Amino acid sequence: MSYLTEYTQSIEQPETFWADKAAKLPWYSQPKTILSKDENGIDRWFADGEMNTAYMALDYHVEQGRGDQVAAIYDSPVTGSQRKYTYRELRDEVALFAGVLAEQGVTKGDRVVIYMPMVPEAVIAMLAVARLGAIHSVVFGGFAAHELAVRIDDATPKVLVSASCGIEVGKVIDYKPLLDSAIEQANHKPEGCVILQRSESKAALVDGRDIDWHDAMSKAAPADCVAVKGTDPLYILYTSGTTGKPKGVVRDNGGHAVALAYSMKAIYNMNPGEVFWAASDVGWVVGHSYIVYGPLLAGCTTIIYEGKPVKTPDAGAFWRVASEHKAKALFAAPTAFRAIKKEDPHAKLLQGYDLSELETIFMAGERLDPPTYDWTVEKAGKPVVDHWWQTETGWAICGNLMGIEAKPPKPGSSTVPVPGFDVQVLDSEGKPLPAGTQGAIAVKLPLPPSCLPTIWGNHERFLAGYLEEFPGYYCSGDGGYKDDDGYVYIMGRTDDVINVAGHRLSTGEMEEIVAAHDAVAECAVIGIQDSLKGQVPIGLVLLKDGADIAEADLQSELVGMVRHEIGAIACFHRAVIVQRLPKTRSGKILRKILRQIADGQSYTAPSTIDDPASLDEIAELLAEHGLVNNAA
Ligand code: COA
Ligand code: AMP
Repeated sequence: MSYLTEYTQSIEQPETFWADKAAKLPWYSQPKTILSKDENGIDRWFADGEMNTAYMALDYHVEQGRGDQVAAIYDSPVTGSQRKYTYRELRDEVALFAGVLAEQGVTKGDRVVIYMPMVPEAVIAMLAVARLGAIHSVVFGGFAAHELAVRIDDATPKVLVSASCGIEVGKVIDYKPLLDSAIEQANHKPEGCVILQRSESKAALVDGRDIDWHDAMSKAAPADCVAVKGTDPLYILYTSGTTGKPKGVVRDNGGHAVALAYSMKAIYNMNPGEVFWAASDVGWVVGHSYIVYGPLLAGCTTIIYEGKPVKTPDAGAFWRVASEHKAKALFAAPTAFRAIKKEDPHAKLLQGYDLSELETIFMAGERLDPPTYDWTVEKAGKPVVDHWWQTETGWAICGNLMGIEAKPPKPGSSTVPVPGFDVQVLDSEGKPLPAGTQGAIAVKLPLPPSCLPTIWGNHERFLAGYLEEFPGYYCSGDGGYKDDDGYVYIMGRTDDVINVAGHRLSTGEMEEIVAAHDAVAECAVIGIQDSLKGQVPIGLVLLKDGADIAEADLQSELVGMVRHEIGAIACFHRAVIVQRLPKTRSGKILRKILRQIADGQSYTAPSTIDDPASLDEIAELLAEHGLVNNAA
């Protein structure tokens, strides 16, 4: 099968194409309606199919004789432990924890928030929620209490599942105080919390609200899978938008299972029984799709890695894990490889590891810069595939389809559209642009299975954020171009979303926090280039008249506030006092030009600028602070 044949069929006959892919999965009742409209007029896949995602991912494989195969390998250099779960063991643990949740009153459609580090119990909790036909919402463990509170209020969970602590490089992070504070801050109160006590730091449990994971498991009875419709939600995953309020991306059960199962072979060339390693975190979409659901739906073995690319214990960690567990595919963010390259530029730590099982390295989450691409190809001696995707889609929009037809790679490009995605580059009026011209990247409707049908509790925001700008298209929020061979180049966000070490964050949200400081009249937070993390945020701050505070003191207070509200992962470390912020006459801050100045790019002041001299002033100030990228 060639890429062109496969892709053309997916675009010209989407229903036939996806009906065929859906038929490969074990539904309780196969869908007859393949593509239909929901009550909001949104395209939906497999509306009348009946299924359960956890059944497809676990029980079915046990029934097919895969019960003794390893389903998950937990590898934790930070605790010095490892554990393997067969499909049967994982199914049994999941059924038991589903019993714990059922005992707590969780039923079909209820929400369960999971705030956990990279431990197998996080995966077990997700699958247990799915088993009950309930909806999980995993919150990344690096988020601070306030972020968790915002998500609790939006998802209104019946139960929370958490752990006493997470372990970062050289430090134990107590989760329980964060959880308690989030519950206190939130208006919605969960009925119960299940807490996994870890030996590195035990937490005090709140009487009448908290129960101990192990205690509850020892008393629980296993719960059966509950059938849901293809269009029933499996999870809500919050992601950053342009405002302070994160968006709850809703994922359905049917389209998600079909797209992920298809992707495991088509994109990653994985077969049942082979080992897949996504070195991400279950708090991100990559973790949902390729630590948990994708590999298990495909009957593969997944690796749950509680460690970092460097310092756990060294920059050889990725090579060690890939070699020890015989991973066929390794998927990580470019940042991880930049960190490895920085600490071990000649990849000396790779020597001695047998990587013969490793076929391909996949990268996503941020732009894969050509130097990192070249270094990884050269040192690992493996093909490196850059693929582009978003929380909203749940799987890759563009990539190199290793299981269908591997195309010659071009550094800087995420290769070609994945079957199902009719990717177009549009001008501001919504007209397709010719090859080589940069514009907004959009996907012609209908979107393929797995893509979001709404934002949880806010359909208006879904329409306004994705469908209204270019009628008939999904607007991705990324800009870029296609070349003459149809290869797609993603150049970066066209909005105020930034990507810090592969973590998607909102500068708008940081602005709200910075603006809340007593001395601050106005501010702009922009992402500037960073050689390790891709981008990091900086704040440009205008003081209130009469405010008397030294720049260093202001900076340390603002850094503390962002850390406290969002978390250390925001990496907000710099704030600069400015005399004026460049604005249009209507008062809009020219953030794009600020970004261009910081990135050392040329820029044109718009005719609507209020005070052109403010641009030179800012350029000088940023240069003085060493915040202009001179390499551009
Ligand atoms: N829980 C609590 N805190 C966390 C955390 C978590 N899960 N993850 C990160 N943090 C903290 C770190 O401890 C650090 O805190 P500090 O400022 O007190 O030192 C801060 O957040 C910033 O962390 P990070 O951005 O990870 O920077 P780093 O310098 O510690 O590590 C890398 C750099 C490149 C090794 C790391 O960012 C990395 O592994 N990146 C890959 C990310 C990834 O896989 N993303 C998934 C997308 S596919
Ligand atoms: P997230 O929703 O956290 O997965 O982040 C999605 C965003 O990350 C996209 O909108 C892009 O801006 C960026 N991104 C992800 N993968 C890539 C890639 N391969 N190349 C360029 N940008 C990427």
